This record gives sequence, C-alpha cells and structure tokens, in this order.
Amino acid sequence: MKQTPFGTMPDGTAVDLFTFDNTNGSRLAVTNYGGIITSLLVRDRAGNLGDVVLGFDSLTGYLERSPYFGAIVGRYANRISEGRFALDGATYRLERNDGPHHLHGGIRGFDKAVWAAEPFENARGRGLVLRHVSPDGDEGYLGTLTAEVRYLFTDADELVVEYEATTDAPTPVNLTQHSYFNLAGGGDILGHELMLAADAFTPVDSTLIPTGEFAPVAGTPFDFRVLTPIGARIGARDRQLEYAGGYDHTFVLRGGPGAALRQAAQVVEPSTGRTLDVSTTEPGLHFYSGNFLDGTVTGKGGRVYHHRTGFSLETQHYPDSPNQPQFPSTILRPGERYLSRTVFAFSVTSPV
Ligand code: GLA
Repeated sequence: MKQTPFGTMPDGTAVDLFTFDNTNGSRLAVTNYGGIITSLLVRDRAGNLGDVVLGFDSLTGYLERSPYFGAIVGRYANRISEGRFALDGATYRLERNDGPHHLHGGIRGFDKAVWAAEPFENARGRGLVLRHVSPDGDEGYLGTLTAEVRYLFTDADELVVEYEATTDAPTPVNLTQHSYFNLAGGGDILGHELMLAADAFTPVDSTLIPTGEFAPVAGTPFDFRVLTPIGARIGARDRQLEYAGGYDHTFVLRGGPGAALRQAAQVVEPSTGRTLDVSTTEPGLHFYSGNFLDGTVTGKGGRVYHHRTGFSLETQHYPDSPNQPQFPSTILRPGERYLSRTVFAFSVTSPV
C-alpha cells in the first residue's frame, strides 16, 4: 500500500491516493474524495497491464468535470422523480440536479464527499475502508446516515465492494459504484460482449424515470441473456434506446431482493481477452453505455473521452423506488442495517 497526496479541496482539506498492488502485479488506486477508483491495472491475454477504468490524473479533474467517474454514489443512486417522495405520511423534497429530478444523491452527493479512509490487509488481500457521515437534512434527506464502504482487492484480481449504513431516522438508501470500464483500455466499448443475468428491465419515460413496469427483454435490444456485443443493437429503432440515447436502464436480476451473491453480468473484450464478471446481492443492475460522453472531457494521460468510450454496471435497487410501491423497498429505518455486496472479478479468456 502506498499513500500519496492527490490534491487539496477548495476548503483546504487534503485528499490522498491509496495504491494497492496484488501478487499478480495488478494495481488498484482509490482516492478518499468520493471513494473514487481512479485506476485499475489488469493484464490482457498477452500479460500486458492496462488501465480499465476512466478517470483523471489529479483531483482537479474530478472536482471540475467528472460524470461520476469511479465514484461511490449515494444516498440514492440514479433518479428520484421530481426530487420528491412521501414516507410515513410526510413529503420530502430533495435537491434537483437533473432537470426536474434528483440524480445520484443530489448536488453534493457521496461522490463529492471527502471520506475518512483506513487501509487494511487480510488473508484474501488488501484494501481500504471508507467512512462518511451524511448529516440530517443533507440534500433534503431525513436522518443522519452513517455509511461505510470497504474495497478489498484480492490476489485473484477481484475487487470486492461492501456497503453498510445505519440511520437515526427513516431514509431511502441505495448505494452504488459508478466506475466506467473500458476493458480494451481505449476506443469505444461497442465491441465489448455483454451478458446480463436478467429476463426483464425497467422501462423509462422520456426523462429516464421508470414507468413501474418490468418489461421482458425477450425479442428486444435489451436481451443480453447470452454474450452479445454492446453495439449490436444500440442503434436499433426502439423507443427505450431513443429516450436514453443508448442503454441507460436498470435490469431486473434473477433472484430478486434479498438474494445471495450471484452472477449479474459478464463482459468479454475480444481483442485483449480481458473479462469482467460482476456478482451482487442487489436486485438490479444499471447498465449505462456512456451515452453522455461527447469528447468534451479529457482524462488520464490526455485521453479524450469520446461518445461511448466507457460503460458502467451499477449494482443497485431500481431507480425511483421511493415513488414506486411495487418495487422492493429502499427505506432504511433506525435499528436496521443496510448491507450490500458486489464483486468485480477480472480474468482473461483465450481466443475462440
Ligand atoms: C447514470 C445515469 C445516467 C447518467 C450517468 C452519469 O448511469 O443513469 O443517466 O446520469 O449516470 O452521467
């Protein structure tokens, strides 16, 4: 583990970068600003290390123009319609930062907080424990929420992410990790092959709020039940794709809420052989194909992030659950413990 200065917040708070090497020579770097994963170096089938996540070289990039690259998202990942919900007979108003809606926890979500960080090592690997206390009223949410995120980087090239939270008043909680991956290390992601363990997804309206239905993926461009290139149908004439400018939808994972850790997704990048397997305890997986990337953001090493040069697989509950009674509840109450676990496992496949 190496701890180095990463930059200074406008209020003078120092932010660090924590770098972890495993026994394969793979390397994970995390900053305590937003719990952001800034780089992740894993080997391709020829043994060459490559950085498979999008990001910036210094804190400044993250402060000025990051579309949630690598960040922990909270209190509520994705959208809450009109930044409003009713709970126990009261109506709550949240900050609106996505047109009329509340997105990714609001204006200053967990991705913009400086977390307390503590490196650790155990028999499986090494990593970082991050802690953040979100005060009562934060972005409009009720209750003091105490959150902990643990990143464990194993010698088997797994990144295990564990989330925990407690509250002193009822509040919605839906935490996720918003890394943008590109397993080729550059270029667009349309040739990456994707499998999603989902028979249905949550269709949205034109502002990306779920309609409340679970629509079957069969016969649609949302059918990723077998490995399919991301780009194979992304330009199809389909209302859902048109609303989002590509994929920006939550998939309903088999097993439902309260499931044990099970496979949610697999991604294979054919030219490098790099493979990512995602497992989670969450009921949903939000697949975002980097539609809002438009070449205006320059990242690490001067690389320009063009349209669809990164994708996210955000394990979470369904968007807008506080307003959708038929969706599994995201309300955490005093005395309860929010627990969530996701594993991103990297490996290589041989050519077919
Ligand atoms: C999520 C949202 C997208 C977009 C990205 C960040 O995946 O669903 O609409 O906001 O985050 O740009």
